[in-house]
Amino acid sequence: MIYLDNAASSWPKPPQVLAAMARFLTEVGANPGRSGHRLSVEAGRVVYAAREAVAELFNISDPLRVVFGLNATEGINLALQGLLRPGDHVVTSSMEHNSVMRPLRALEREGVAITVVPCSPEGALDPQAVLAALRPNTRMVVLNHASNVTGTLLPVVEVGRALRQMNGPLLLVDAAQSGGAIPIDMQTSGIDLLAFTGHKSLYGPTGTGGLIIGERVPLEEFRPLIRGGTGSRSEREEQPDFLPDRYESGTPNGVGLAGLAAGVRWVLEQGVEAIRAREVEFNQYLSDGLRGIPNVIVYGPPDARLRTAIVSFNIAGMEPSEVGRRLDEEYGILCRAGLHCAPAAHRTIGTFPSGTVRFSLGAFSTREDVEAALHAVARLARGCDPGPCFAH
Ligand code: ALA
Repeated sequence: MIYLDNAASSWPKPPQVLAAMARFLTEVGANPGRSGHRLSVEAGRVVYAAREAVAELFNISDPLRVVFGLNATEGINLALQGLLRPGDHVVTSSMEHNSVMRPLRALEREGVAITVVPCSPEGALDPQAVLAALRPNTRMVVLNHASNVTGTLLPVVEVGRALRQMNGPLLLVDAAQSGGAIPIDMQTSGIDLLAFTGHKSLYGPTGTGGLIIGERVPLEEFRPLIRGGTGSRSEREEQPDFLPDRYESGTPNGVGLAGLAAGVRWVLEQGVEAIRAREVEFNQYLSDGLRGIPNVIVYGPPDARLRTAIVSFNIAGMEPSEVGRRLDEEYGILCRAGLHCAPAAHRTIGTFPSGTVRFSLGAFSTREDVEAALHAVARLARGCDPGPCFAH
């Protein structure tokens, strides 16, 4: 079996992640920060260690600005629903995932105006077009750091720095595909809100992720998504007003966060730059190989340095879902085909409504995986059935 679906969820995980989760369940187990006994205190330490690891990875000085939740989608919803009000204007791109577009469309019905800046057919975005779309009432710019369809990197740092210079609207970045795969520095990038997920390039388990809240974000105007027990200020029936408790209620995912901390520490030990260099090399090999196969159409920028470790493609005359099924059943190659929950991105690159076949590499992908994938696609594109193929 060859796993080329790391953009959906990275697999396998480093052994340290499994060990940290097993340790939490066997030796800690308690509710973090609720009770005063030693196991509860230790569970609280594990959660704080996850905050520290995420803060170090994204270079933020205060780990309490890391708000944990289920995934990047929850982080994005917290930022959008918590900060936007009727009468506000938002600028976004045409390469966004439904984690951004669905909450934005719901807010539009409540009176939030939205400008969607078009991207090129390769998914690239002109930062000047974003700045030109700003209005006096623009409250937020929301951008995908990297498309989950083509991997195309959007110019979030250019936009962030320009917004900072003009003391402009807040910048929310969806880093679901880039966190841990591309270096991100919250202190120099101009990003005010960073939504991240734990189970992709941070190599943690599913059910971990959240939102990093920068210093320009006015907490008094930023409503929580949920309210409830925090283990702090328990004498009061009002939600605490400090971070992270203002935005985190209910028992946290202790076992998941134990795994997340180990995943992020593993990424830090490898070095984001080193993981990136390897992925760029294999991804270039993969996309160049696919481009060389007759009847195969490859989307996104040809230069792998301009994308995360994703290649989207189609075989002329075949439905992507059929290609995905045959890759799995006949070649043991696991990937994701279809619309990838990002119809706007597929409209942008011209592949709506059928979508594409998407290969996505991870830190554990090998050159042999890439070669097997190229061999399988070449056979499918030649019209071969399982078994010997004499077509040319
Ligand atoms: N958004 C994830 C993907 O692109 C799940 O597959």
